Amino acid sequence: MPTQILESKAAAKKLLCSLPSRTRVALVPTMGSLHAGHLSLIKRARQDADFVVVSIFVNPLQFGKNEDFSRYPRPFEKDFALCQNESVDAIFHPDARDIFSGSFGSTIEGGPLTKLYCGKSRPGHFAGVLTIVSMLFHIIKPHVAYFGEKDFQQLFLIKRMVRDLCFDIDIVPMPIVREADGLAMSSRNIYLDGPGRRSALALSQAIKAAREAVQTPEITRKEVIHRATAVLEKYPEVRKDYVSLVDERTLLPLGDEVLKTARLLLAAYVCNEPAVRLIDNALLTPTSS
Ligand code: PAJ
Repeated sequence: MPTQILESKAAAKKLLCSLPSRTRVALVPTMGSLHAGHLSLIKRARQDADFVVVSIFVNPLQFGKNEDFSRYPRPFEKDFALCQNESVDAIFHPDARDIFSGSFGSTIEGGPLTKLYCGKSRPGHFAGVLTIVSMLFHIIKPHVAYFGEKDFQQLFLIKRMVRDLCFDIDIVPMPIVREADGLAMSSRNIYLDGPGRRSALALSQAIKAAREAVQTPEITRKEVIHRATAVLEKYPEVRKDYVSLVDERTLLPLGDEVLKTARLLLAAYVCNEPAVRLIDNALLTPTSS
């Protein structure tokens, strides 16, 4: 079956209402410019569900005033071909005017955790994400939805929103897909020029240093952060945004005691012109825990 393109909420509703009642529907929310990371989510959805919808919508609500909304890549033809190749049933690709019809003004804020880490340097970002994701859930009504661990804070907040607000949807987390040299795949990697692409390795190298550090018995949280930060600082074209070690279950920063299993979260600007903000993360399991 060819992949259908749904350009409005009404078109999505019509198609979804026509499906047999026991159809298991999967949703993979994206902003397009699809790469192997997105495709890993789509492939898994294809294995699990009867009907797979990929949404492609560059959501204006989650971009700050000085961010890259207008230059964000939108290669729809290429994305369509990739979806067709993965036997996706439908692409939901609405216009912003259709999504935010009338006097749109409701948001899901997500609480204090949306102000930490990425939320600190991107005020309003997570409210924008949670609002659009909840709208997509209401429009597509999936039984299951797939999100990457690449955006760990986003995944955490979406899982919590689903639980708190009683969405009857299974959220499936998927591992980070990386380039051969370790760089986490991202739609924003296409902004990187030659030197920028090399500097971008600072993030995965910082993770490597942290992984090595946690093999030292009794190492403290502070020391692990210090070693990861030192790697970022070795690259003159890289500006640290944050390096944090958090408890995976709460997303709160860990205290300064001997490190137990923790999630390292980091973000940095690669000083291309304009600077490109990249994020990465990894689970660290110290030898002693
Ligand atoms: P986008 O950046 O397009 O990512 C869509 C999904 O792909 C997210 O769940 C993200 O975590 C996952 N993803 C991206 N890079 C990945 C990688 N290297 N490995 C594994 N998964 C990866 O995240 C968004 O869009 C938006 O915020 C969205 C949820 C669609 C709301 O607008």
